[in-house]
Amino acid sequence: MYNIDDSEIIEVVGQEKLEGELIPQGSKNGALPLIAASIAFDYPIKLYNIPNIEDVNILISILKYINCQVDFNKNELLIDPRKIDKYEIPWELASKMRASFDLLGPIVFRFSKARIPFPGGCLIGNRKVDIHLYAAKQLGFEVELTKGDVFVHNFNKSKVNKVINFWIPSVGATKNVIFLAAFAANIINDEILINNIAVEPEVIKLFDFLLNNGFNIEYSINKKYLKVKPFKIKNYTFYEDYNILDRIETGTYILAALATKGKIFIKEDSYSKEYFKLSLMLDSLLSILKQVGFNIEYYNDGIYCAYENTKLQPIDIETGYYPDFPTDLQPQLVSLALSINSVSTIKEKIFDDRFIYVNELRRLGADIDILDNKIAIVKGGNELSGAKVIATDIRGGAAILIATLFANNTSIISNVYQLKRGYENLIDKFNNLKANIKLKSNKEKIYEYRF
Ligand code: EPU
Repeated sequence: MYNIDDSEIIEVVGQEKLEGELIPQGSKNGALPLIAASIAFDYPIKLYNIPNIEDVNILISILKYINCQVDFNKNELLIDPRKIDKYEIPWELASKMRASFDLLGPIVFRFSKARIPFPGGCLIGNRKVDIHLYAAKQLGFEVELTKGDVFVHNFNKSKVNKVINFWIPSVGATKNVIFLAAFAANIINDEILINNIAVEPEVIKLFDFLLNNGFNIEYSINKKYLKVKPFKIKNYTFYEDYNILDRIETGTYILAALATKGKIFIKEDSYSKEYFKLSLMLDSLLSILKQVGFNIEYYNDGIYCAYENTKLQPIDIETGYYPDFPTDLQPQLVSLALSINSVSTIKEKIFDDRFIYVNELRRLGADIDILDNKIAIVKGGNELSGAKVIATDIRGGAAILIATLFANNTSIISNVYQLKRGYENLIDKFNNLKANIKLKSNKEKIYEYRF
């Protein structure tokens, strides 16, 4: 059972074609690991292009709790970790955001131990952490589970296994294990190899950040391995870095524009290296959109995506690890499929429960079958009709918003908090694209039921 925040609602008047330019925000899933990683060092770090979203603000509140100094202003985040004196995070804070578990590695690196509440499942699935815990044990730590907390401590150098094999290329485990392995490598003075790591751009950005700060690592994107070698932390007085752009926010707006039969120009990142260009990070999405029949054009300064009044083909795709189609765009793609007069098949392969938002789409009149909680059969082309709906989770909420944009009449979306977790200036950005949407405070309690 989950509480729904109904203090605010979004009112959407549907059937406006989206049209205009998008300047993408800094990446949510890029920012969180950079912020977490910053506490491993002992000098101030300034991060640019950090989105002002709820998940970032929650992580900042956890940093403040452990006595890290933080100043967040206009997408610039200054982190001064020199006075951090806590290695334990209370449940009251950790339970607000699953990604707080990503602090495990950086805290262990700093204090040789960490106590963090065991993360629960969430609205998209079980979300296990067995690989994180397995890796910690293999790297010579004791892992205790007491009173709902994970306590990683008591490092023993004779117990370090120098080769770790992940059975899933988990994003979260890769981010945590790099710190645990760095800690162990420095003590045993030897190299540690981790096989089958995640190579999502947000993880590679973290690797680059750590390399710049003295970590001695080597990785292969194609072979998916990471070697962590002994090193000395840099003696910087100050370090600064730029977060990458948000491929999922960008993909959400592209899908929204196309679902309303509109057009959008996405401003590309001019300073990042090739691996972080949106045209590459979104290749799996842009390729499927081309196959379906949308017009996609690439320019030096951006990407143009448009509906061109041609017959559209059904979508047939499954989610996967990068560079395959991202699970974080699966719900929004289902909403696009609803706007296409065909039967599309979209398969979820990363999370075990990522279709909960479909019930809300059905309230708008969507005809979707879910098979084995893994495959969505989307019978698109029916006119959707505005309704009161709930943003179930960040991406499910985005999918619901997209559907209300091309549904007829007015829709009311509650649980806006979920959208605020991941999307900065969402209302202004959609209105700049000529949508008709408003954020309102909610005086009456509209919804009685809970998930
Ligand atoms: N898994 C395990 N064992 C583990 C770790 C993961 O079985 O020890 C399973 C999970 O249960 C899940 C799958 O592996 O089914 C993927 O998990 P992963 O660890 O790769 O994902 P994550 O670190 O929990 C991050 C993003 C997610 C994104 C996934 C996949 C952040 C803060 N979160 O989650 O983002 O969907 O990677 O790309 O970076 C979102 O932004 O909406 C979001 C959910």
